[in-house]
Amino acid sequence: MSDVNFLKLLDVDRDAGVFRVARKSFVDNDIFQAERSQIFDRCWLYLGHTSELPKKGSFVTRPVGGRNVIFNRDVAGTVHAFLNSCPHRGATVCREPAGNAKNFTCSYHGWVFGADGKMRDLPGIESYSEGFNGGGCADLVAVPRLEQYRDFWFVCFDAEAVTLVEYLAGATEYLDLVADQSEAGMEIISGTQEYAIRANWKLLVENSIDGYHAVSTHATYFDYLKNMNGVLAQSNVVGFARDLGNGHAVVEYSAPWGRPVANWVPAWGEERKGEIDAVFDRLVAKHGDQRATRIAKNSRNLLIFPNLVIVDGMSVTLRTFYPKQPDYMEVTAWAIGPSEEKDWLRKNRLNGFLEFFGPGGFATPDDVEMLEHCQRGYANAREAAWNDLSRGMNKAEPATVDEHQIRTFWSRWHALVQQAPRVIPLHAG
Ligand code: FES
Repeated sequence: MSDVNFLKLLDVDRDAGVFRVARKSFVDNDIFQAERSQIFDRCWLYLGHTSELPKKGSFVTRPVGGRNVIFNRDVAGTVHAFLNSCPHRGATVCREPAGNAKNFTCSYHGWVFGADGKMRDLPGIESYSEGFNGGGCADLVAVPRLEQYRDFWFVCFDAEAVTLVEYLAGATEYLDLVADQSEAGMEIISGTQEYAIRANWKLLVENSIDGYHAVSTHATYFDYLKNMNGVLAQSNVVGFARDLGNGHAVVEYSAPWGRPVANWVPAWGEERKGEIDAVFDRLVAKHGDQRATRIAKNSRNLLIFPNLVIVDGMSVTLRTFYPKQPDYMEVTAWAIGPSEEKDWLRKNRLNGFLEFFGPGGFATPDDVEMLEHCQRGYANAREAAWNDLSRGMNKAEPATVDEHQIRTFWSRWHALVQQAPRVIPLHAG
């Protein structure tokens, strides 16, 4: 039985301005199981983007919430999400990461399913009763909930969950700021980043929206930018942090780097400036000056609870990560950009995707090292029981370098894991 007191995983004293998280939240297996049942089995989770299914029959397969999922478009064009487990005896039905298929054939006994999930054929069909599969028991099992917002598709394994739009709450404004970067539609750019980190998944949540670590952890990158581009140092960044509801949070800021949408920097060359200005003018005409400035020039790190991060900076990176164990996660990241983007801008975007956020880039190796250091600290220094996240606690307008956005995540996380069913001990006699 768990000896974790779930009510005491946070230590919050608003008057004193203290917000602390129990370090056992990163290492304890009972807490990890509670996260599975209360978070990954109940929250809306990012599945994929419409652009990944460009044709009838397009499919991708990927892990989501501990399940293997087929995300596909059937021959009529309808989008589906199926559990990639054969209804016969459980084998993986589709073993390819992506492709195009009118049918899926299970390799184990040869059952055949249409792209709409319906069982089409099975060897030895004459041996089955006439009414077999009348109720669909031999069809692929659809994920209980599948919904989209602005071409971003999400699934939920809780059939009773609120709608996706209700769940997303204030995060819809920030998905709009990504979607509106294109006049013709955003698209996922091929070339997925996949890597693993020997640390708890919540450390990457914190890191992804932490505006406080950049100057020290990524000093090398900012020196490089200053030397290469003659741009402002990170200390000149201005912005804010917001709680978007339901555990979602964002930091939004002006930053020294170029943005392929329409934020020109000298390193791109004077000859490109007019082209970028023209894109910005079109955005102003469509969205107004203030909103166009946010779309084109501001950067953002958005967390959609629990584990979708959109880093909208010198490129736009979508990142998800799932824990395999309390101290091990697997990360997947995609670049997304306007489908009408010019080649040189696409090249710049991909440079940004690799140069800073890539597993071999300026930022990610440094971050991974820090996260793994933290994880080792939790395992080794058990007498040090708390992490501090109090920075900016009582400020009316939290800044990007405060920890308001990280507290937003933890408050929601705590509200959910507390609901985990408790094991009631049986007493003899
Ligand atoms: Fe798929 Fe038997 S497990 S056909």
